[in-house]
Amino acid sequence: MKKIMCVIGTRPEAIKVAPLVHAFAAAPDFEVRVLATAQHRDLLDQAFALFNITADYDLNVMTPGQTLPELTARLMLSIDKTLDEAKPDMVIAQGDTTTVFVTSLACFYRQIPFAHLEAGLRTHDLYSPFPEEANRVMAGKLACLHFAPTEVSQQNLLREATPAEQIFVTGNTVIDALLTTADKDFELGFDIPADKRLVLVTAHRRENFGEPIEHICQALLELVATHHDIFVVFPVHPNPNIRAVTDKYLQGHDRIKLVAPFDYGPFVSAMKRSYLILSDSGGVQEEAPALGKPVLVLRRDTERPEAVTEGVVKLIGTNKEDIVREANILLTDANAYAAMAKGASPYGDGKSSARIVEIVRNYFSQQTSAK
Ligand code: UD1
Ligand code: UDP
Repeated sequence: MKKIMCVIGTRPEAIKVAPLVHAFAAAPDFEVRVLATAQHRDLLDQAFALFNITADYDLNVMTPGQTLPELTARLMLSIDKTLDEAKPDMVIAQGDTTTVFVTSLACFYRQIPFAHLEAGLRTHDLYSPFPEEANRVMAGKLACLHFAPTEVSQQNLLREATPAEQIFVTGNTVIDALLTTADKDFELGFDIPADKRLVLVTAHRRENFGEPIEHICQALLELVATHHDIFVVFPVHPNPNIRAVTDKYLQGHDRIKLVAPFDYGPFVSAMKRSYLILSDSGGVQEEAPALGKPVLVLRRDTERPEAVTEGVVKLIGTNKEDIVREANILLTDANAYAAMAKGASPYGDGKSSARIVEIVRNYFSQQTSAK
C-alpha cells in the first residue's frame, strides 16, 4: 500500500485536486492523505465542503494581508514537520501557488518523490504572472513526475530538458471537477432579471492590483451605462487589494452585483447562465470554453494559449478603453459573439484523475522492479 499525500493551499488547488483525492481513495492499492496548508482559509473550507474532502493535516497558515516572504517562511517549517510525521511515499501538488513551490522544496530536502499536477504551463516571463511563473518553474525542476494538461505544456517541459519519460499528457483535472458539477443547477442566492444578459467578472492577480483593477471597474461602469440590457455579477476575491477598489467604484449600482466568492457549484451555474465572462483567472480560462462561454482575459499574457488559438478566449489586458471596446464587440456583433461562443475543450475530457492514478501505480511498480 503506497501512501500518497495531496497538498492543497488555495481554492483552485482544492477544485483541481479534489477529483484526484477521490480517485486515489477509491484505489485499493493507495492510501491518500490530504494536507491543507490553508493558505486560503475561507475559500478552501468552501471548496472542501462541496467536494466532501476532509484534511488529515491542517496547517492553518493564512493571515490577513499576508506577504509572500511571511507565507513562504510559515509554510516551509510546517510542511516539513508534517512530512516528517506522515512519511508519505509520494507528494502531489497542483499548479503554481506559494504552497506548491514550498511543498516541492520541502519534499526535495527530505528526498520524497514530488509529482507536479498541471505541469509545464509557461508564459516565459518570470514576472508574469507574479509570483506564479517562478513558482511553477521551480516546482517543475524538483518534480519526478509531471502531469501536463496538454501537448503545449509537454513541449514547454521538453524545451527545459525535463526527461521525456517523466512527462505525461493527462488533461487537466479541472475538467473532471467541472463535469461532475455542471450537470446540476445551483442557487446563486439572488435573482438576475430574466431579460438581462449576465456579464460575469472575476479578478485577483497581483499584477492587477492598483491601477489595473481601477481600470477594470471604470470599464464596467461604462459598459453598464451603454448597455441597459446587461447585468454584471462580480464575486469579489477576499484579497483586500481587490475588495477595497471594487467597493469604492462599484457598490450601490442597480445592475452591478458585488457578491462574496461563490461556492464552486453556484459559480459554475453562474458561468452557465452568463453571456460573457471577463476574468484574470487561470481556472476560468479552462472551464468557460468547455461551457461554450467567451472569456475576455484581463491580462497581457497567458500560460494557457490553447483556448486563445481555438478563438474562444481573447487576451485583452486591463486598459479601460481596450476592455470597453472588446466587450462592446461581443455585446453588439452577433457573428463575433457566435465565433467565440462555439465551445472547445482543449484542457481535458474529464478522465484525467483516472489516468494519473494509473501513471503513479506504474511509477511505483517500475521502482520495485528496478530494485
Ligand atoms: C493565491 C495565489 C494565486 C492563486 C490565487 C487563487 C500565491 C502567491 N497566490 O492568491 O496564485 O491564483 O490564490 O485564488 O500563491 N483571503 C482571505 N480568505 C481566503 C483567501 C484569501 O481572507 O479564503 C485574503 C487574506 O487577506 C490573504 C489574502 O487574501 O492574506 C491573499 O491571499 P494569498 O493566498 O496570499 O493570495 P491570493 O491573491 O489569494
Ligand atoms: N471560482 C469559484 N467561485 C468564485 C470564483 C471562481 O468557485 O466566486 C472557481 C472557478 O470556477 C475556478 C477557480 O475558482 O475553478 C479559479 O480560482 P481563482 O480564479 O481564484 O484562481 P486561479 O485559477 O487564477 O489560480
